[in-house]
Amino acid sequence: MTNSIKVNPNGPLSAKGSLNISVSGASEEKSSAYLCRCGASANKPYCDGAHKACEFEDAGGLGEHQLTSGENTGAETLEINVKKNGPLVVSGHVTLTGGEEVCQSERLFLCRCGASKNRPYCDGSHKATGFEAD
Ligand code: FES
Repeated sequence: MTNSIKVNPNGPLSAKGSLNISVSGASEEKSSAYLCRCGASANKPYCDGAHKACEFEDAGGLGEHQLTSGENTGAETLEINVKKNGPLVVSGHVTLTGGEEVCQSERLFLCRCGASKNRPYCDGSHKATGFEAD
């Protein structure tokens, strides 16, 4: 199965495939999920549509500096570890799409606070903004 994450303009990340999403030590298997990247959802890490009310703006490209790393382990499941007060840590082979750009990755740190200057990747801005989320 091909695992994929799409960066939606002004909206969430759409993840599809064999997903294992871990939050505060509890994990859940899913085949699709809309993951908040504006930081405003009341149902983090999932999107609840709050990006509209907070007028989140992001074109949905893959950032000025594409930050991907890791080796293909052949694992079929994409592990999405939700870091407390920080990014989504994505481990496993995934196709990341944003606008016309596509890249393959084995490890990604994706912003979920909405403040990164290099979206969709985390650039550490969550610390400066005091982002708090389980
Ligand atoms: S989670 Fe947004 S900059 Fe790290």
